[in-house]
Amino acid sequence: MKLLITGGAGFIGSNFVRYMVNKYPNYEIVNLDLLTYAGNLENLKDIENAPNYKFVRGDIADREFVQGLFKEEKFDYVINFAAESHVDRSITDPGIFVQTNIQGTLALLDAAKNFDVTKYLQVSTDEVYGTLGETGYFTEETPLAANSPYSASKAGADLLVRAYHETFNLPVNITRCSNNYGPYHFPEKLIPLMIINALNDKELPIYGDGLNIRDWLHVEDHCQAIDLVLHKGRNGEVYNVGGNNERTNIEIVKTILEQLNKPESLMKFVKDRPGHDRRYAIDATKLRTELGWSPKYYFETGIKQTINWYLSNQEWWENIISGEYQEYVKSQYGDR
Ligand code: NAD
Ligand code: DAU
Repeated sequence: MKLLITGGAGFIGSNFVRYMVNKYPNYEIVNLDLLTYAGNLENLKDIENAPNYKFVRGDIADREFVQGLFKEEKFDYVINFAAESHVDRSITDPGIFVQTNIQGTLALLDAAKNFDVTKYLQVSTDEVYGTLGETGYFTEETPLAANSPYSASKAGADLLVRAYHETFNLPVNITRCSNNYGPYHFPEKLIPLMIINALNDKELPIYGDGLNIRDWLHVEDHCQAIDLVLHKGRNGEVYNVGGNNERTNIEIVKTILEQLNKPESLMKFVKDRPGHDRRYAIDATKLRTELGWSPKYYFETGIKQTINWYLSNQEWWENIISGEYQEYVKSQYGDR
């Protein structure tokens, strides 16, 4: 069995590569990643020499390269994590989101179709559903209503995946997950940013009134869900993934400050994100009842473990923040 995992040097992708390399020693796992600012091979140091693992640097949107790779490797499964993933960056530079998230997905779908893969799994997001009011949950039937250029590009990709299934019979699944947290989370995102700023006694920027709600899921629980959908998901189906862990951003920030024994005076309310979705909350009944998935982390233990991980891995995030890691990538691989 040969798996292509794209974006495997990023936050969730690297956790998933590690999970699969350890769980399935008989699978051959190829990690295709462009190593953008968010891709970091340091995330995979412990498994880089595993006999069932190989890294390839490349762009999922480079059609010729992607076709060549599929021809050479003859993948059975494709799991696409590769993406531009940060909402704030999509507001300042939407073009790269369309290029990677839509054109990149299209290039992968064409190669998956031409080389008859057993399954193509698209890792998507609950953000494609838009925003919720105070009540209700996103189900797989909730209409797509993306509000940011990031979520619009993910929704566009999801529709292409659906279309390749309906039109060309490509075997596919789409997973739509809520906010992940855990080790190797890139320091531009809420939880790692707040942990690192607090450790450095820097201000913690809270957008708007801080009462926006996200539904937090530990990254390992997400990995387990993807593994299940990959092996047991019904062809053509969408599965929502979420842990019933709704928290306001202020609650998250206060939890981090308390754990680190830092003062709440570090919190600073700043200008809101344009188009800021108010609330996400996932109904994961389908994944639970059909495939028997259940998350194993309680948020209270998961967040403590995560904070401890950042305390024990200071060099990892200092290299990112100082730009040292990007210099290393340039020296090894040249400019992007
Ligand atoms: P990330 O930004 O940490 O990692 C993205 C990875 O993709 C990086 O390693 C980057 O180098 C790589 N990449 C970017 N452009 C590429 C290209 N053109 N070709 C090859 N590789 C490229 O992202 P993440 O938070 O790990 O998210 C992974 C996936 O999961 C994304 O598709 C995202 O939309 C989805 N998702 C994320 C979350 C979350 O909370 N982080 C929740 C739901 C879904
Ligand atoms: O819901 C899944 C999505 O979760 C994924 O699809 C995205 O790839 C991922 O980045 C994440 O998107 P969010 O926009 O929810 O995550 P972010 O960490 O950027 O922000 C979380 C919340 O915290 C959001 O309400 C904005 C707020 N925020 C964020 C930052 C970076 C702040 O208040 N201050 C900040 O500095």
